[in-house]
Amino acid sequence: MEQIDDMAFAKTGPGTIGGRYLRRFWQPVYRGSDLASGQAVPIAIMGERFTLYRGETGTPHVIGFRCAHRGTQLSTGWVEGDDLRCLYHGWKYDRSGQCIEQPGEDAAFAAKVRIASYPAREYLGLIFVYFGGGEPPELPRYHEFEQPGVLDVYPPEVWPCNFFNRIDNASDAAHLSFAHRESREAINNVRLLPEVSAEETDYGVVTYMTPPGKPTLSLHFHMPNINMFFQAEAKLRDPSSDDGYVGRLLFRVPIDDDSCVSFPIDHVPITGSAGEAYLARRRKVEEEQRNPERDPVTLAESVLASQLRLADIKNGDPANLKTLTSVEDYVAQVAQGSPFDRQERMGRMDVGVILIRKIWLRELRALAEGAPLKDWIHSTLNEALPV
Ligand code: FES
Ligand SMILES: [Fe+2]
Repeated sequence: MEQIDDMAFAKTGPGTIGGRYLRRFWQPVYRGSDLASGQAVPIAIMGERFTLYRGETGTPHVIGFRCAHRGTQLSTGWVEGDDLRCLYHGWKYDRSGQCIEQPGEDAAFAAKVRIASYPAREYLGLIFVYFGGGEPPELPRYHEFEQPGVLDVYPPEVWPCNFFNRIDNASDAAHLSFAHRESREAINNVRLLPEVSAEETDYGVVTYMTPPGKPTLSLHFHMPNINMFFQAEAKLRDPSSDDGYVGRLLFRVPIDDDSCVSFPIDHVPITGSAGEAYLARRRKVEEEQRNPERDPVTLAESVLASQLRLADIKNGDPANLKTLTSVEDYVAQVAQGSPFDRQERMGRMDVGVILIRKIWLRELRALAEGAPLKDWIHSTLNEALPV
């Protein structure tokens, strides 16, 4: 029987057991608003590369990375209707990867050439793809995020760490008191170390945290790689705001075993002009973060290189305060290094992290043995908790 090592969930390349498991679920690959009609881009996920393009009809499609002729990168070619023509010698593929035109060749040749294709769907502002082969399962719905209000789809965050560094962090109640100390102090919302417990649910894991004298908060992990929580995020970002509660959904997707991309989505239940004003503020922050001096990754790398301290960000440029939480997470998680080289000594505060890994390993063992896998149900949580 296939040996499943303790970190098997962190390896997702083709042929690995972790990769086989993760490919059974739809994965987001791109923010929809970043892909124009008629545009093709290369994408990388789980150690493989593909071509994503949006047909002139507006529909997204995913086919193999390379042309079957002599292997050039298909994303450099031209989108024609819902087809893609290779830049090098003009072979043309339809959305199913079937070659339908080969300038200068016998008409019968094209029918014999086909490259891979994968089902793609657009939902909640993201393009999801199913890489598992065969008939895809239904695309999971997240009803809380379909409610009236603002859907704030963040620019994807590419970080040089394993996707499990990010999954672990969002179910890690204790880190809020330390990794996020500077940002919490800046908004006068210092977190005392909470009591922590975790349990398996229909969708994955819920981690409960109860700070002394405060209500219990819950952090949700949806199998296999999704963090979800609800908080007064608008207040947290801007204490003068009365924008109400925010639900946050975070898809943590491996690019390969040493890097990952996170797709965050916020849902804010405000509509009309208040919603528009909220989105305008958010787009301004996004715009500001394009300036390298305000880019969270650049700031975090400066902290790791000891050229900057988190406290300097807190006390410095007020615009950077908005990105401090993200910088703090990057510093803590990227600095952990690879899960495969890491020695860990986990304790009571890590119950959520431990449970998620245990469940992943249980499912990987079942997959290796051909035993039934748990069918995860992303039910509505109906939750909005105060910070
Ligand atoms: S490599 Fe694509 S048509 Fe020749
Ligand atoms: Fe964090």
